[in-house]
Amino acid sequence: MPLRIDGKVISAQIKEELKEKVTDLKVSRGISICLAVIQVGNDPASSVYVGNKKKACAYIGIDSRSYELAQETTQEDLLQLIDELNHDEKVDGILVQLPLPGQIDEDTVIRAIDPAKDVDGFHPQSVGALCIGQPGFVSCTPAGIIQLLKRSGIQIAGKECVVVGRSNIVGKPMALLLLRENATVTVAHSKTEKLQEVTRRADILVVAVGKPKMITREYVKEGAVVIDVGIHRNEAGKLCGDVDYEDVAPVCSAITPVPGGVGPMTIAMLMNNCVEAGIAGN
Ligand code: GUN
Repeated sequence: MPLRIDGKVISAQIKEELKEKVTDLKVSRGISICLAVIQVGNDPASSVYVGNKKKACAYIGIDSRSYELAQETTQEDLLQLIDELNHDEKVDGILVQLPLPGQIDEDTVIRAIDPAKDVDGFHPQSVGALCIGQPGFVSCTPAGIIQLLKRSGIQIAGKECVVVGRSNIVGKPMALLLLRENATVTVAHSKTEKLQEVTRRADILVVAVGKPKMITREYVKEGAVVIDVGIHRNEAGKLCGDVDYEDVAPVCSAITPVPGGVGPMTIAMLMNNCVEAGIAGN
């Protein structure tokens, strides 16, 4: 059977390392780190994500400030809050939970966050910096996938990597990060012709398409590493990914499960970005 890449174990390691770092920053340099988390409305899934982010902050020793705004909040009011937080010296990172209600333009809000506090890595300046190999915050899910690969001893340099999906949050930054690690990268998407031929070239296949169990063994080269970013719940309440795990596992050399693969890494990397923001800003 393949190596089962355990995101729970690897994210726990990262959080322990960060906890030590945060303690050391407090004790030796008197630095405390603060993340401001903004949620507009009370979408249940967003509330769970925001709750988990605040819990992770508490565990690591990062202060979190919570802004729970009404569903009807205007864009102007949200931009005003972001402006205040941009200028608040005590705040190191600003996170606006997405999606936002329809009256608010997400791109405008993301652009309003000071790139020095953009711990989600969504600001065009952060994405541009990644694109041209300059320092900046990197989107947490793809950054977490690089950590999963590295900490599992999987070589990236020189390998054929295929990313299925081209979202701004996962697919595009994933491709740029793999390129930065000296992989040969192909980005496939819903309009790609002969998708199976393309994905079967991959030594490392990253799937972020948002379709339950779409990737079966016909898409996978023997011995490939398969990373599944998808998360879906079926009628029975059971979680599954974009990859049909049972079908694909026997043909690959390593694979991430759902749940417990990529998912836990996103918050660990958010915490990492907060610590970096805190160090850079003090
Ligand atoms: N909504 C779903 N995922 C994310 C994320 O990583 N960051 C933010 N801000 N919102 C999200």
